[in-house]
Amino acid sequence: MQNAVKVLIAEDEPNALMGLAELISGWGYRTETARDGIEAWNKILAWDPSIVVTDLKMPNLDGIGLLTRLSEQHNGLNSNLAVVVLTAMGSIQLAVEAMKLGAYDFLQKPVDATRLRTILGNATRQRETEIELEVARRRLRESGVLGSLVGNSKVMREIFGLIEQIAPSNVHVLITGESGTGKELVARTLHDLSPRKTKPFVGVNCAAIPETLIESEIFGHEKGAFTGAAERRSGCFELAAGGSLLLDEIGEMPNGTQAKLLRVLEERKLRRLGGRNEQEIDVRVLAATNRDPNTAVAEGHLRADLYYRLNVFNIHMPPLRDHMEDLPLMAESILAQMNDKHNRRVSGVAQSMIDRMMGYGWPGNVRELRNTIERAVILCPDGAPLDVGHLAPGFAKQQPAAAHSSNQSMIPVHVGTTVDEAERLLIQRTLEATGQNKTRAAEILGVSLKTLHNKLKEYSRTRPENSTD
Ligand SMILES: Nc1ncnc2c1ncn2[C@@H]1O[C@H](COP(=O)(O)OP(=O)(O)OP(=O)(O)O)[C@@H](O)[C@H]1O
Ligand SMILES: [Mg+2]
Repeated sequence: MQNAVKVLIAEDEPNALMGLAELISGWGYRTETARDGIEAWNKILAWDPSIVVTDLKMPNLDGIGLLTRLSEQHNGLNSNLAVVVLTAMGSIQLAVEAMKLGAYDFLQKPVDATRLRTILGNATRQRETEIELEVARRRLRESGVLGSLVGNSKVMREIFGLIEQIAPSNVHVLITGESGTGKELVARTLHDLSPRKTKPFVGVNCAAIPETLIESEIFGHEKGAFTGAAERRSGCFELAAGGSLLLDEIGEMPNGTQAKLLRVLEERKLRRLGGRNEQEIDVRVLAATNRDPNTAVAEGHLRADLYYRLNVFNIHMPPLRDHMEDLPLMAESILAQMNDKHNRRVSGVAQSMIDRMMGYGWPGNVRELRNTIERAVILCPDGAPLDVGHLAPGFAKQQPAAAHSSNQSMIPVHVGTTVDEAERLLIQRTLEATGQNKTRAAEILGVSLKTLHNKLKEYSRTRPENSTD
């Protein structure tokens, strides 16, 4: 099997090059040689080796230049090509730089043959595992699964393809889409399919943290940095060291914090609040928002400079109503998860239930589908399939897909809105959603019909100019 493994050796010193080629061929590898970085680059493209053993100091294009080109070509060096760099005595700094660019390993000159043989053996085995994994993943993807993501529609397949393409690299990704469409799941999948998968995945929800605490949460603080900072605390960036950080609801992050974040992303250095020293950080930042980013920028919720920095790639998750053909497959997969979770043996989903679900608009997207199925699994006896009888009583009365508009289930409440205003908005929208059915609206709102009547009477006396948004 080793016979098939192709090793390209790049070295400008002819004797060393010959020596290495003989040595490596002697171990059963197929070898090719290159005398400088450019020749190496061309042979990589033309000959497609599995391993490159390269000197760092070479004319035309040196080892670092070669690695840089490779990492740009692949959006981050992919695991299918292992680059082993040879370093001269005293150039450990260069070796470190090479490793950061994605080199597989390094070896000091003069080359220790036993070590080199071990490294080549390891690289070969790792490559074989990667290839096996890739084949397994492709097989799964063809059946509509990528990690925990399920979907077989054209739009989901495109998203899966994009995720696979950009997962191994370090590029920032902005994930957009309505609530419940799977943004967080996409972020996790990006992490799980990346070389960072063994390091932490940390998520922070910018909307859930009070403005006064968010900077300390993200960047950490030193003892005494502010009143109440009794101990030194690591922020999310430090917790995610070597891994990925998901900044969820990025549009809710205060403007000043966004500016700070941008600096950290640009300099790849971090200083805790109240701290003097900067530390290097190696974190891949993913961001998510359920706002339309362009509108968020126009309205001042999202800084334009940060947006451009994060939006190197955009993955937009479509609302479920726009890829309903995925619903049956998703329902099956969620059912299997729920059987596991609740230790049940529900046998499937009856066609009648699928039909009913296909006619619904799913304003809460996949999350709502998940909740619907979880509820049904709890009610359904073991051995039987899920049926319309296991749907919530109100389910059929809810709006059909066609009549549904995406924002009816969401009420935008911005900071600065008073409680009275928010309450008025909530009542108004609930009435709209129930077709002005006051009894049903009161039920949903959890107030008595009398209270609702009183509120409406109050509003009719003080009608604001524009009360809907
Ligand atoms: N394609 C999918 N296949 C299987 N499960 C999915 C898919 N998309 C979403 N889910 C499930 O739906 C639920 C909601 O997904 P997730 O939390 O990722 O949504 P979100 O877009 O981050 O929502 P929000 O904006 O409210 O935070 C999760 O339980 C997730 O596992
Ligand atoms: Mg989320």
